[in-house]
Amino acid sequence: MLYHILSVGDVVGEPGLSHLEKTLRPLKKLKDIAFTVVNGENAASIGLTPQQAERIYDAGADVITLGNHTFGKMQIADFLDDAPYILRPANYTGRAPGRGCGIYDLNGIRIRVVNLIGRCDLSWGSDNPFTVADKLLDGERTDFTLVDFHAQATSEKLAMGYYLDGRVSALWGTHTHVPTADERVYPKGTGYITDLGMTGAVESVLGVKPEQSVESFLGGLPGRFQNPEGPCKLQGAIFTLDSATGLCTGVERVDIR
Ligand SMILES: [Fe+2]
Ligand SMILES: [Fe+2]
Repeated sequence: MLYHILSVGDVVGEPGLSHLEKTLRPLKKLKDIAFTVVNGENAASIGLTPQQAERIYDAGADVITLGNHTFGKMQIADFLDDAPYILRPANYTGRAPGRGCGIYDLNGIRIRVVNLIGRCDLSWGSDNPFTVADKLLDGERTDFTLVDFHAQATSEKLAMGYYLDGRVSALWGTHTHVPTADERVYPKGTGYITDLGMTGAVESVLGVKPEQSVESFLGGLPGRFQNPEGPCKLQGAIFTLDSATGLCTGVERVDIR
């Protein structure tokens, strides 16, 4: 049987959150989506609060993944232990609260979701995401495995795609907030895209007011980053997965304005 799985790129600020609330359910209905994973690390611009996590869940996400801004709002720390639907990178070292891998039930179909963080130009102190992935995939058998690889370098994401090809159902990148045009099924059957993009203001620099970003590149003091109002986009990808093989048969990018 074929299942459509939707992954949504980093939700940025209140504009991104409200746009998600407006567009996610109609999109799921239109595209017959069975399971949805949303990256929420920027719901509070830097990090997210438990209330914002609940809003993303109520908007229609089954699982929320995070990234380098996981602990931007410290009140999320306890919540990570309490709410099984929210994941932080599994390769965080040491005593970080929360979990990076979960198994979820979809009417008898078991779906493993893994959140990993890259180390190139990003989170160099984390454990090796490649070897951590090996350990996580060694565990219980599931029908599908989905991976959100939150990473800066396109090379690291592409390499992870080849490393996990045929071993996971779908693997997508997050973090850069700019979608890539390389969605496809890898040779051994894993659905892949280097970056999903973001959910938030169209006229922005990665979700931040353009004037502030320009000011910081001019060497000035941009002030506290604000997320502009105005038209928004929801960017992500839909993976068609086959429960007979656990692999992917097609990938489609989405950009909902
Ligand atoms: Fe990030
Ligand atoms: Fe982000």
